[in-house]
Amino acid sequence: MSDKPIYVTQPYLPPLEEFLPYLEQIWQSRQLTNGGPFHKQLEEALCEYLGVEHLALFANGTLALVTALQALRITGEVITTPYSFVATAHSLLWNGIRPVFVDIDPVTLNMDPSKIEAAITPLTTAILPVHCYGNPCELDSIQTIADSYNLKVVYDAAHAFGVKVLNRSILQHGDLSILSFHATKVFTTFEGGAIVCPDAKTKQHIDNLKNFGFVNETTVVAPGINGKMSEFGAALGLLQLKHVDQALARRREIDRDYRKQLAGIPGVVCMERGNQTHDNHAYFPILITPEYKLSRDELYERMRRRGIFGRRYFYPLISNFPMYRGFPSAQHSNLSVATAISEQIICLPIYPNLSGTEQRRVCEVIATAPLEGR
Ligand SMILES: Cc1ncc(COP(=O)(O)O)c(C=O)c1O
Repeated sequence: MSDKPIYVTQPYLPPLEEFLPYLEQIWQSRQLTNGGPFHKQLEEALCEYLGVEHLALFANGTLALVTALQALRITGEVITTPYSFVATAHSLLWNGIRPVFVDIDPVTLNMDPSKIEAAITPLTTAILPVHCYGNPCELDSIQTIADSYNLKVVYDAAHAFGVKVLNRSILQHGDLSILSFHATKVFTTFEGGAIVCPDAKTKQHIDNLKNFGFVNETTVVAPGINGKMSEFGAALGLLQLKHVDQALARRREIDRDYRKQLAGIPGVVCMERGNQTHDNHAYFPILITPEYKLSRDELYERMRRRGIFGRRYFYPLISNFPMYRGFPSAQHSNLSVATAISEQIICLPIYPNLSGTEQRRVCEVIATAPLEGR
């Protein structure tokens, strides 16, 4: 059996010769950044592909999050989930906002809307939920609460590229949604991200903010940041878009095969997908419950010894990191579901180039562990 390491993900890169003509154009135009032709084309192409009206590209998803909060002038306290990548909460601290963590739903692993109201104080200005693993949040319940308390909603949709609910883009919900095009995501521009916004005026404001606040050569209207995507990233994005449907179809097959091959192993629970009508199979999370012979960490280490690098997304919880753990909302008693799930989760390798043989190797290590032990 091959010992080639299998990582949790691997970026999908189209054939290099398809990328070279884009590079030639960049060499000819000498325009490397600052809203060049590829940047403009990718914004248009993504709006069409994703089914949204307005989108502003960014250098990465974290800058998109930080800027989205700035654009809406969010202050005070924001209700969010501890079960996410740390950038979700960091974007609040970078804006001088206090995150208030609420627990997650044990099925969707997204923010539990029934916990939101109790966390609202006079300082609350917004809700920052995450469509974790691309599974939709409870969009209507969250919006109803936001409307009754006059709160903004910013969705961290870093995992939700291409996800639709009732055939409508999930990115059309809330006041703003952000995407990440990091190398680990289903659609990548090397590094990259975007803010999806509802109207041209908001996009213009966001475009100004991502370019230091400039509105013309000599006028700066806000303390903006450098959040611009380069022409290289935008070019890769345009090329990726030509291949993305094929890449998503392969992910779908891998998801289906994992469910078949892992079915019936006691203590291995494949996470149910949500109510999306279009899925992206960005992750393949499993829960290791007490019926399994090994603990989650024992299985994780056993996989690593056999060259399979699953990831414990999301462990530790954000609320356990030193800059958050002192907040009252970060206490374990407030986050019992998130705490339990973070101790059971492993995300298995899933990416378009994962071969059938490699996938069987992953499943075999999981299936034989209860027989062989550690
Ligand atoms: C949920 C979530 N939010 C935000 C980010 C930050 O995106 P980026 O790495 O593009 O800055 C990521 C991942 O990287 C993420 O998984």
